[in-house]
Amino acid sequence: MILSIESSCDDSSIAITDIETKELIYHKKISQELQHSVYGGVVPELAARLHVEALPKILEECKDFFPKLKAIAVTNAPGLSVTLMEGVTMAKALALSLELPIIAVNHLKGHIYSLFIEKEEVFPITILLVSGGHTQIIEANSLNDMKIIASTMDDSFGESFDKVSKMMGLGYPGGPIVQEKALKGNEDRFAFPIPLRQSPNIEFSYSGLKNAVRLQIEKLGDKEINEQDMCDVCASFEKTAVAHIMQKTKKYFKQKVPSNFAIVGGASANIRLRTAIEELCEKNKTKLFLSQLKYCSDNAAMIGRVALEQYNQNNFIGINEIDVQTRLKDFK
Ligand code: KG4
Ligand code: ZN
Repeated sequence: MILSIESSCDDSSIAITDIETKELIYHKKISQELQHSVYGGVVPELAARLHVEALPKILEECKDFFPKLKAIAVTNAPGLSVTLMEGVTMAKALALSLELPIIAVNHLKGHIYSLFIEKEEVFPITILLVSGGHTQIIEANSLNDMKIIASTMDDSFGESFDKVSKMMGLGYPGGPIVQEKALKGNEDRFAFPIPLRQSPNIEFSYSGLKNAVRLQIEKLGDKEINEQDMCDVCASFEKTAVAHIMQKTKKYFKQKVPSNFAIVGGASANIRLRTAIEELCEKNKTKLFLSQLKYCSDNAAMIGRVALEQYNQNNFIGINEIDVQTRLKDFK
């Protein structure tokens, strides 16, 4: 079995996966959303401190599995350096005391492999990765052959929901809150401009939309923004945010219709986005893969699933070689 650890942002999670059967034997996650909510976003140092409390608590429940372990896997990039460090430190301590090798896992590959938890891999596949830190279109031919086709130039899709929520004092994470309010709002009340509409390139940008929403809220704020105004802002914003991602994704489909397509990452839970992608795939006869909702946001089960493949490829890292990286240019 492999024990995997995830601590790249605000979720402390540990999983145990069976190497031969791919079965997820154990999986637990302690989320810090409540503690960060008052600040309207993740505070890295607070997140690191909460990992120090939560990870050992979860590990305690895994002790019976220790004799069966063959490797320790851990997310080492990309993410917040201070929080990644907590997972990596625990992995090093376990590797030393149990005399096991370490597997360093790329968090983005983890999100992609959330599609394949307790399942076989499917390749080639094009993936739309939408999370708090990333908005990317990725072409994947295998675990070791993945290419980023498009990225965001500034904010990510999920992050823009977080920021819009924060502007109205609605809490963190903003995605589910804004989605909920949008259901009760008029999506046509505010005509926010769709980002990069005229650009022929396949790339994303959310900072302009965020600023347009900020200006609108300021205007409404003159007479104290009320509940209906908030719902209308959320609905008009969500409509525009999804329209932008769909325009660029349709552009990609025009260049090349993929046989397999998937949406992964925390923000792939967005119903409006899911529905629009479902329609696009149906129209193009593309097979659509979605990860189960419980595996959309950060978790160690997806890290363990990648680690299985790396274990079979003998892809280990020395205890003194593993480091944390906040950003990754590529999948290397
Ligand atoms: O993948 P994830 O758990 O963490 C990162 O790796 O970033 O994604 C969290 C992000 C947050 O920005 C959150 O607001 C967003 O995903 N999110 C959503 C929805 N649910 C979560 N964004 C839009 N609509 C949602 N329903
Ligand atoms: Zn993530």
